[in-house]
Amino acid sequence: MIKDIQEQILKLKKENDVCILAHCYQTHDILEIADYVGDSFGLAQRAATAPNKTVMMCGVRFMAETVKILSPEKRVLLPEPDAGCPMAEQLDKQMLIQLKEMYPGYAVAAYINTTAELKTLCDVCVTSSSAAKIIKKMPEDKILFIPDKNLGGYIAAQCPEKTIVTVHGCCPTHAKFTAKDVEKAKAAHPNALFLVHPECAAEVVEKADFVGSTTEIMSYAKKSDKTEFIIGTENSIVQHLGIDCPEKRFYPLSKDFVCHNMQLTKLASVLHCLQGTGGEEIILDEETRIAAKKSIDRMLELG
Ligand code: 13P
Ligand code: SF4
Repeated sequence: MIKDIQEQILKLKKENDVCILAHCYQTHDILEIADYVGDSFGLAQRAATAPNKTVMMCGVRFMAETVKILSPEKRVLLPEPDAGCPMAEQLDKQMLIQLKEMYPGYAVAAYINTTAELKTLCDVCVTSSSAAKIIKKMPEDKILFIPDKNLGGYIAAQCPEKTIVTVHGCCPTHAKFTAKDVEKAKAAHPNALFLVHPECAAEVVEKADFVGSTTEIMSYAKKSDKTEFIIGTENSIVQHLGIDCPEKRFYPLSKDFVCHNMQLTKLASVLHCLQGTGGEEIILDEETRIAAKKSIDRMLELG
């Protein structure tokens, strides 16, 4: 059944010149039919260079918006219109205008997990894999980092030469875990290395053997000569690593480490979107797109 759907998808995407981009948090059957799989930075790079007429983003809305911002001439499709990122919607334009007034003279660095509308007011975007590198290269010393206080705090520790102010946003999927959850997982798997995403709380990140983006976590585990790992990010990564490295053992930090938005997209959603019976075409007004593009261009340039 899965193979049949995958074959139909591969045929339709070839016939219609569609490039399928998939974030690492998608299920493995989607990764298998994707032209490119990666973290947010890799996806943005690929979005800027994909040669196809149409790009389908298997992920969440802000990722599809990023493709449209970078490639206005392309048709950009989001297979599940309800797949949003709650963190990206925590701040609206009015709230950011007020924050900017509170911190005059600060450059605004936005996690890429923000809406296109919010990006219009930002100086630069960053992703988890590129954030510290970009912030270090910025000429500005005073940075207002939005919306993830956990990633912001992690970057601030790596860039002591900068004054970084964070706000109270976070990823509801990552931020709910505590040092206690880590202690429990470590007690159950005393020989395992703990690999964690910087969207987790500082008390969790502090206990990590490695901190990185989704792609960085996967490549660290694959290259490591160790054989057991506790994965401190969305559980799809446990699934992918288990399939890619059958000789190693991967344990979730918690069985509840699930981003329901990322898991909304199913293989059938991809097929229906290609068949024209589902999904949504992303449309952005040109003024928003051009203003938002500046912060993404700067990210690609510095990152
Ligand atoms: P990365 O894939 O860039 O690590 O991002 C993780 C995430 O939560 C995306 O929404
Ligand atoms: Fe958003 Fe968190 Fe889900 Fe990523 S894991 S899409 S940041 S809610």
